[in-house]
Amino acid sequence: MAVFNLGSVNADLFYRLPHMPAPGETLAALSHDRGLGGKGANMSVAVARAGARAVHIGAVGPDGVWMRERLERYGVDVAHLALHEGPSGHAVIYLDPEGENSIVIFPGTNRQIAETDMTAALDAAQSGDIAVFQNETNLQRAFAETARAKGLTVAYAAAPFEAAAVQEVLDLLDLLVMNRIEAEQLQAATGLAPEKLPVRQVVITLGAEGCRWIDTVSGESRDFPAPKVQVVDTTGAGDTFTGYLMAGLDRGEDMATAITLAQRAAALKVTRAGTADAIPTRDEVLAAG
Ligand code: RIB
Repeated sequence: MAVFNLGSVNADLFYRLPHMPAPGETLAALSHDRGLGGKGANMSVAVARAGARAVHIGAVGPDGVWMRERLERYGVDVAHLALHEGPSGHAVIYLDPEGENSIVIFPGTNRQIAETDMTAALDAAQSGDIAVFQNETNLQRAFAETARAKGLTVAYAAAPFEAAAVQEVLDLLDLLVMNRIEAEQLQAATGLAPEKLPVRQVVITLGAEGCRWIDTVSGESRDFPAPKVQVVDTTGAGDTFTGYLMAGLDRGEDMATAITLAQRAAALKVTRAGTADAIPTRDEVLAAG
């Protein structure tokens, strides 16, 4: 089994700041770092570190060859991560002393993925595999349609959140992951509470409070408290959660089991600085207790 991920790949440029800049303010960073990121790449690395097979579908430019190599080193199948002309995606990430972030992304080649490359990647997929995507690439609806037609489970992490982007794919989803504010925004846009959405499984992340899982068909809803940790950097924690969740479901685990390990992985990530490079392995998550 495998997780096919149509996803962004970004160079993450981190700036640790004494506080978030106010409009018009010039600030000197306390430190600067560069790492592998992008919501898509983070999820693929999380899937691989959780012990499942991750096939990443996307595009980088000539300046992104190091990111392709790093993804491969982390165990991600990059045969369908194309090399295009033009600059790769990058993200400027401000971190405050509490570990909270503010992110600006430059999409670059993440929005230039060729439809033929996407469909060629899914040619190798089998019924029962998982397709996951986020809102940092082009081809979102085409990917969901192709994956669904092939019998894959279709999952969407609604980040960065845009109500219109979710609505465009809502009828094709088996699983939707979003945070509490996004769920409220989606309800305002659609008039539908999460339990009324036309998606069987809805997972709402609640930050330090954990998450809520809703099975809209059975009507079952369950809250999962999050492990308490010392926050260093929250960036990529949601991506770690989603990647681990996908890996658990791909392994055939039930939702509760998959969510529990995904929460522990995200909590461990929060204690580390960085994004894809900081995502823990399954052994590390299990050892952390
Ligand atoms: O979710 C964190 C990610 O958002 C970062 O890695 C950054 O690249 C942006 O995509």
